[in-house]
Amino acid sequence: MKNTTLRSLIAVSSLVPATTVAADTASVTQTSFGRLRDGREASLYSLVNANGMKADVTNYGAIIVRLFTPDRAGRMDDVVLGYNSLEEYVAATPYFGAIVGRYGNRIAKGKFTVDGQTYSLATNNDPGGLLCHLHGGRVGFDKVLWSAEPLLVDNTPGLKLRYSSKDGEEGYPGNLDITVHYWLGNDNAFKIEYLATTDKATPVNLTQHSYFNLKGEGRGDILGHVLTLKASRTTPVDAGLIPTGKFAPVAGTPFDFTTPHSIGERVNAKDDQVKFGGGYDHNWVLDNQTGQLALAASVFEPSSGRTMEVWTQEPGIQFYCGNFLDGSNVGKSGRPYHHRTGLCLETQHYPDSPNQPNFPSTVLRPGAKYQTSTIYKFSAK
Ligand code: GLA
Repeated sequence: MKNTTLRSLIAVSSLVPATTVAADTASVTQTSFGRLRDGREASLYSLVNANGMKADVTNYGAIIVRLFTPDRAGRMDDVVLGYNSLEEYVAATPYFGAIVGRYGNRIAKGKFTVDGQTYSLATNNDPGGLLCHLHGGRVGFDKVLWSAEPLLVDNTPGLKLRYSSKDGEEGYPGNLDITVHYWLGNDNAFKIEYLATTDKATPVNLTQHSYFNLKGEGRGDILGHVLTLKASRTTPVDAGLIPTGKFAPVAGTPFDFTTPHSIGERVNAKDDQVKFGGGYDHNWVLDNQTGQLALAASVFEPSSGRTMEVWTQEPGIQFYCGNFLDGSNVGKSGRPYHHRTGLCLETQHYPDSPNQPNFPSTVLRPGAKYQTSTIYKFSAK
C-alpha cells in the first residue's frame, strides 16, 4: 500500500470545539496539547474523514480524546469519555481512550514464567482485596509519550504512533518496539493496527480502552444501550477478577448476549460472576475467530439511532460497563462521569494468559511479529 505522508496538508490551527464538521476531503491537523512536567510537548491530531466524522487523538497514551459520529439525523456528537486537557489525563484517568499494554487486563499476583524464568511486575490493582498487575503496571503505555506521524493515504486520515518499551520496563523482559496505526476510514470505521517486535520472549496483549456512550459523552448512563456479542462462552473469574482457567457457556446466564439485550436488563442480577465484577467486567471468548477480522460485537443506542460494530482479529473481548466510574472524573463537557456512563469493548487475548496453560499464548518471541487489528465502525438509523 502506498504510504504517503502529506506534511503539506498538516496545518496548525486553534482548537475549536466543533459539534459539526463538514469536509469533502479528509484532513489531519496538528495542535499543541500542552507540556508534560518534564517539558516534553504532547500534540493533538484531528483526523477528519470525507463525511466530516472527526477523531482527536493525542500522542500522550495514544489517547482518543474525542470522536464525533453522526446520529440518525446527521447530528455529530462526541461518543467517547475523556478530558479537554493533558493535565487532567496526567492527574487521574481510568484509561480513558488509551492504548493499554504491555499486557492489557490482569496478570495474577504480577508474576509469570517464560522459558523457565520468573518475572515480577508491579501489582497496581486489587479487586476483591487480591493484588494483581493491571494494564501494564504503574506507568503503562497509556501514560507514556508516543512519537507520532500524521498520515493521509488515499483520502484516509491516519496517525502512526510508535513507542519503544525498554527491557525491564515495569518488570517485563525484552526491548519491545510497538507501532500503532489509527485510521479514520470514509466508511466511518475507526481502525487500529498494532505491530510489535521484541528481542526477548515477552507476553504482549495490547488493546484500546475507549469508553463509549453512543448518546454522547456526559449524557447519562449506558444501561439502555443494546449489546450483541458473538460469543457463547466467557472465561469466569475469581473475586480478584482473575480467570479460573475454565470456560463457561453463557446460555441461560446474564452473560448471554448472543441475541441483543440491553446492558441494564441483567447487570444487577444475583449471580456470583456479576457480583465479582460489580456488573459486567469480563472476557468473552469470541466464537468466530480464525485470526482474520471478524464481527465481535455490536451496540445499538435507541435514542440516537447510533450503532457501533466491533471487528477484530483477537480471540477475546473484555466488556466492561464502567462499574468503577463514581462521578469523581469530570469530563469534557463539565459533567461528572457517574457509575456506568461509559462502556468499553476491549479486544484482546484472555486475561492472565501468561499463567493459564489452557488459553492461547500471548508470548512474543524474537524474530516473530505481533500483528493484529481492530475496527470500531459507526452507523445510524
Ligand atoms: C478494565 C478492567 C476493569 C477496570 C477497567 C479500568 O476494563 O477489566 O476491571 O480496571 O479496565 O478501570
